Amino acid sequence: MKAHITLTALVSAFACLSLAENANPVTVSVYYESLCPDSLRFVVTQLYPVWLDLKEIMLLDVNSYGKCKDSPAGDGYTFECQHGPDECEGNMMLTCAKKYSSEEQYMSFANCTMAELVGTAAGARCAEVSGVNYTRVEDCFNSVEGQQLQHEVGAKQAELDPPLYYVPWILINDVFTEEQLDAAQEDLRKVVCDAYGDVKPEKCSV
Ligand SMILES: *[C@@H]1O[C@H](CO)[C@@H](O)[C@H](O)[C@H]1NC(C)=O
Ligand SMILES: *[C@@H]1O[C@H](CO)[C@@H](O)[C@H](O)[C@H]1NC(C)=O
Repeated sequence: MKAHITLTALVSAFACLSLAENANPVTVSVYYESLCPDSLRFVVTQLYPVWLDLKEIMLLDVNSYGKCKDSPAGDGYTFECQHGPDECEGNMMLTCAKKYSSEEQYMSFANCTMAELVGTAAGARCAEVSGVNYTRVEDCFNSVEGQQLQHEVGAKQAELDPPLYYVPWILINDVFTEEQLDAAQEDLRKVVCDAYGDVKPEKCSV
């Protein structure tokens, strides 16, 4: 009798588990850099258009840091980046835009600025296109606030396991594999739809 109850409990626990799993959106984590051509390609051809179609089943975690490092300076930090100081500034602009915009605005802004690959030089124009308050964003990245926010992104990135060695770095549901990284850059829609357990939305079959 006892064994029977346990089994029943186990079966229904599994049923609940798979139901809950099906309802979960797919978390897509991205670590990118403002002046990186591979990041440009991923954001403009995959991340932004696929997210526009599939946002109801996607949970975004988008971070602009990449192959940079920072060191404390006064109350803030100084940064060194793979593609030079303009990249550090561009990354910080994106981080500040993320903090002071809606997700819709931020993603539109990221798509627009990445497409030009000129960092902050595209900021004002792209902010206008995206409905981002650029005064607010500029205040942020020209101050210690922006440096601190950017340092936090770096600290979060430093926790990645395995550690980042390529940009854009992409995790699906908090898991990194090289195979998945390649697949996501090739066809993010397929990767997200495959990872989504429930009845697929229509936009999965376009
Ligand atoms: C992203 O930016 C590119 C380049 O400016 C643009 O052609 C494209 O339409 C934008 N994507 C979307 C979905 O708006
Ligand atoms: C934009 O941000 C600035 C600085 O924080 C603020 O003074 C201004 O009211 C904001 N503009 C809009 C339209 O929200």
